[in-house]
Amino acid sequence: MNRLLFVCLGNICRSPLMEGLVRAELRKLGRLERYTIDSAGLGAWHAGEMPDPRAMAIARQRGIDISMQRARALTSRDFQAFDLVLCADRRNLSELRRRAGSDADRCALFLDWSGVKAEGEVPDPYTGGAAEFELAYALIERGAQGLVRRLEPAGQAGDFR
Ligand code: 4NP
Repeated sequence: MNRLLFVCLGNICRSPLMEGLVRAELRKLGRLERYTIDSAGLGAWHAGEMPDPRAMAIARQRGIDISMQRARALTSRDFQAFDLVLCADRRNLSELRRRAGSDADRCALFLDWSGVKAEGEVPDPYTGGAAEFELAYALIERGAQGLVRRLEPAGQAGDFR
């Protein structure tokens, strides 16, 4: 369970933040090298682009740099290349499961899998404003912490094994 793919619609707002925040949590534990982590979009509209400037800015304010990420579209090979495919909202999940076929059991909602169950979805902030990006960031931050607790139950910050 060490190959993780994060998915949203465009791969420029939510899934780049999931990727960046999960990387940061794993790096804190000294466990990042054990993982293969990527993100992808269900759509290809933004392929090759940097993350949305609003997503880069909100991460940057918290010391997380996601500017090296480039958007790409999900491919059918991703369902073999990754153990877990975690997505932002229920529409993402139904589309993912449709494309995944017999690998549908690898797909889940990011917040559900991470134990942030009351929330369920990370709403799409793309057409919103600062408040929508703040909400998405806060949910993804909680999700990243929950996910890493689940994957690395013995992990403690500052514990570099
Ligand atoms: P994301 O946000 O799925 O969080 O990356 C979106 C980005 C772009 C579009 C939709 C959502 N779009 O329609 O171009």
